[in-house]
Amino acid sequence: MLRFCVRLLLVAGVRRIGKIRIAIAGLGNCASALIQGIEFYKDSGEDPIGLMHREMDGYRVGDLEVVAAFDVDARKVGKDLSEAIFSPPNCTKVFYPHLPQYGVRVQMGPVLDGVSEHMEEYPEDSTFKVAHEEPVEISHVLRDSGAEVLLNYLPVGSEEAARYYAGSALEADCALVNCIPVFIASDPLWSQRFEEARLPVVGDDIKSQVGATIIHRTLAKLWADRGATLDRTYQLNTGGNTDFLNMLDRERLKSKKISKTEAVQAQLPVRLDPENIHIGPSDYVPWQRDNKVCFLRMEGRIWGNVPIDMELRLSVEDSPNSAGSAIDAIRCAKTALDRGIGGLLEAISAYTMKHPPVQMPEEEARRKVEEFIRGPLAEVTANEGLDLSSWDGEEVTP
Ligand SMILES: NC(=O)c1ccc[n+]([C@@H]2O[C@H](COP(=O)([O-])OP(=O)(O)OC[C@H]3O[C@@H](n4cnc5c(N)ncnc54)[C@H](O)[C@@H]3O)[C@@H](O)[C@H]2O)c1
Repeated sequence: MLRFCVRLLLVAGVRRIGKIRIAIAGLGNCASALIQGIEFYKDSGEDPIGLMHREMDGYRVGDLEVVAAFDVDARKVGKDLSEAIFSPPNCTKVFYPHLPQYGVRVQMGPVLDGVSEHMEEYPEDSTFKVAHEEPVEISHVLRDSGAEVLLNYLPVGSEEAARYYAGSALEADCALVNCIPVFIASDPLWSQRFEEARLPVVGDDIKSQVGATIIHRTLAKLWADRGATLDRTYQLNTGGNTDFLNMLDRERLKSKKISKTEAVQAQLPVRLDPENIHIGPSDYVPWQRDNKVCFLRMEGRIWGNVPIDMELRLSVEDSPNSAGSAIDAIRCAKTALDRGIGGLLEAISAYTMKHPPVQMPEEEARRKVEEFIRGPLAEVTANEGLDLSSWDGEEVTP
């Protein structure tokens, strides 16, 4: 009965008190943007600037608390979170420089296939060294720290390492948000393991807030909705962060290309032949740092078989763009945990990821996320006409 009342209060808009304890694997640029954002939004009060949801099931951005972090780079391991995220080669925009000391030390993870050999050949990253520390047992640290959601921010191509961290999340009873293009949520065997453990999984490969993928998908759908035939398209991206440097190793790029290409193909009424669609990171330009530039071209035909083409150029700071989506994925994972829901979270995966197991048009994904957040009791209150208007808005602890 108590749980039922609490749910009613939450549905009525009463804010939940509670933290979301997260652990992060890979303290690169995306982690930096996310952690800076947590402090930024604690300070920004009621101003929802730059957020898809100010609150989700009562959780605000400032409710996130990083309780464990793992990396392998000697410049980050052993440091407090607040220092590690500003250590080279991280180069994303510093929009919130005055972080508190968290008392959370970055711990050494198992390297496995996380580091590409070619990185050392580039002068920009010549100081890269794997830390001389014994790797910790990830599942033990997750458990001891009380982490509820593990966020995977490893480099592209870390197939083995991503699976190792996913397995550790399962062992430690943690939900997983897989931001990288190694297929975990979209692998039926893995999502079944999460379902059996009653742990939520969201993935794969974060789809940025207003990034190349969502713009390309939206335009492709617009063309289809307006009856224009798309014959050919490309999306070329350049950037100067370690993610782009890492992706120069084409061997590591296979799943990224699948993920980005499928995200667009899924919006087309008729799939394009592979030779007519080219999508992918195209080059590393060191001085661009975390600024990503996307060049997008679409060619096709409209009424009377008459040709049409369009070009678009997007310039955006890559990592804050990803954090703006990750924050909703994390909050949905926590909400699912609160409700005892395990396995694949279909709607939020479609909303925030490039390679979800089930692709949906953006507006459908958003509607389903809103329904998920309102939860089944939203319908109960609506149907039973319960009047919660006199509730004074006092905060409750579930
Ligand atoms: N908009 C975006 O930035 C965006 C969008 C989609 C996907 N992603 C993906 O998110 C991931 C993170 O991106 P990023 O820009 O933060 O990358 P990054 O290269 O800045 O950070 C990766 C971090 O992982 C660490 N690492 C490597 N091996 C490890 C291991 N075995 N254990 C623990 N840590 C390890 C590296 O030292 C580094 O600090 C990438 O796979 C990227 O493709 C990013």
